[in-house]
Amino acid sequence: MSLVAERIQNTFLLAKVMSAAKAAELIPVGANVGMSGFTGAGYPKAVPQALAYRLAALHAAGQTDARIGLWTGASTAPELDGALAQAQGIEMRLPYQSDPTCRQLINAGQMHYTDMHLSHVAQTVCSGVLGKLDVAVVEVAGILPDGRLIPSTSVGNNQTWLDEADHIILEVNFHQNPALEGMHDIAHGTHPPSHRLPIPLLKASDRIGTPYLQCDLSKVIAVVITDHPDRNSAFDAPNDASFRIAEHIIDFLQHEVKAGRLPPELLPLQSGVGNIANAVLAGLNQGPFENLTAYTEVLQDGMLDMLRSGKLAFASATALSLGPEATAEFNNNIAFYRQRIVLRPEEVSNHPELIRRLGVIAMNAMIEADIYGNVNSTHIMGSGIMNGIGGSGDFARNAYLSFFMSPSVAKGGKISSIVPMVSHHDHTEHDVQVIVTEQGLADLRGLAPTQRAELIVERCAHPSFRPQLRDYMERARHSGAGLHTPHLLDEALSWHSRYLKTGQM
Ligand code: COA
Repeated sequence: MSLVAERIQNTFLLAKVMSAAKAAELIPVGANVGMSGFTGAGYPKAVPQALAYRLAALHAAGQTDARIGLWTGASTAPELDGALAQAQGIEMRLPYQSDPTCRQLINAGQMHYTDMHLSHVAQTVCSGVLGKLDVAVVEVAGILPDGRLIPSTSVGNNQTWLDEADHIILEVNFHQNPALEGMHDIAHGTHPPSHRLPIPLLKASDRIGTPYLQCDLSKVIAVVITDHPDRNSAFDAPNDASFRIAEHIIDFLQHEVKAGRLPPELLPLQSGVGNIANAVLAGLNQGPFENLTAYTEVLQDGMLDMLRSGKLAFASATALSLGPEATAEFNNNIAFYRQRIVLRPEEVSNHPELIRRLGVIAMNAMIEADIYGNVNSTHIMGSGIMNGIGGSGDFARNAYLSFFMSPSVAKGGKISSIVPMVSHHDHTEHDVQVIVTEQGLADLRGLAPTQRAELIVERCAHPSFRPQLRDYMERARHSGAGLHTPHLLDEALSWHSRYLKTGQM
């Protein structure tokens, strides 16, 4: 059998094969387009670039408002977000991005961005409040004779896009390992309220759906063949600060086990994106805990190492986010990993009901925290978007134990990550239980705001900023205003404005 016939076994869909340029012509200007893709995995590689080319040509011909609304699972890659942003082709982006050109356009006021909790996306789209989804562009690893689709390296919102869109374009990526088949668990949407039922998932390893995506084949207007790898960005080697953050977290978890508040195998772990999160996983891989599980959003290199070493028995996620070496390891031993990994829709991987039921331990990075434990994950100096909230809110609010972590300083020590008041609120003090920097760990559970402030400053702030923070706290306490959460309102954000004026907090 030819490779094409092996990967596209449905004859109706085989007859729809065309070039990416032809498929991109079928996407109307102004359409809302739901594309696959989550953290650089499983995104369409050819149609977005062809669409960017077409939109740029329309702009050059004078149609300067030729744009689309772009909805995805989460962040994607230069071939998708990068190409469409560079072509000035995105009117509205949601629900999460981390692309440098998107970031620049959003911060220049030239692109709209709705930064959403990822667990909210499917139900918000289905409610119709975001408008009609016109086209879905979804990467798959293959198509079965009856038209069922073998998902690729991420699931994200793909089933929702296939259900909701008027028209569907499939990219069949020959580069994706066909042995991904069987690794996914697609639970077919939750019902709208008031018809919802409990989601019958009791353990991270439970399967409640089918391994395949499904769609109404009559909606498929094009099938495009590609042969390209995922973005597969390499992680930085863990630095000293990340190692120390990992050590503090592991010490704390050991203490909680000794106190009888956590079982010896802990509770299912959620680990956020980025280098610090990856370093914490590397620490856990060397640490004392055995037979761990993960109920998380993204499975990155550190978790793959833990699966291989046996420290981690099972991982549930919505996407793989692996560096080049980990990708090779995954593909070479995919039968081993298929027994130990399940990839789910993000509506399920991030579902508050399941995070609360399983008692997830959430560990996410932050940009800054304030002395009372409010956390900013998304904005630089209060106004410039970095990436977005992603799943951090889904997990932090509903977790059994919620950590936020960051180096205590940024930009070579000019910025303190512990500030009097955060310049943007993503996670309120009510959702933040433990703050960790390389300086130490503050367990905020059960403490009043002034007690939290003492602990955060003593344990987590960098020594070079502690005197300034103590001075602020002391003066706020004698300001004559409310003493539950004392603030000097004229000064609370002065650290940020000082940095903007002088380059130093
Ligand atoms: N003020 C200003 N800039 C800051 C800062 C602060 N307090 N803290 C960090 N930064 C800058 C860094 O200098 C760096 O800038 P650069 O790219 O110009 O070098 C950038 O922010 C990223 O910081 P870094 O320390 O490399 O952290 P990271 O890669 O671990 O990312 C977040 C940290 C918070 C931006 C990232 O984790 C994120 O986007 N989180 C939100 C989404 C989320 O939590 N998802 C997981 C849910 S499953």
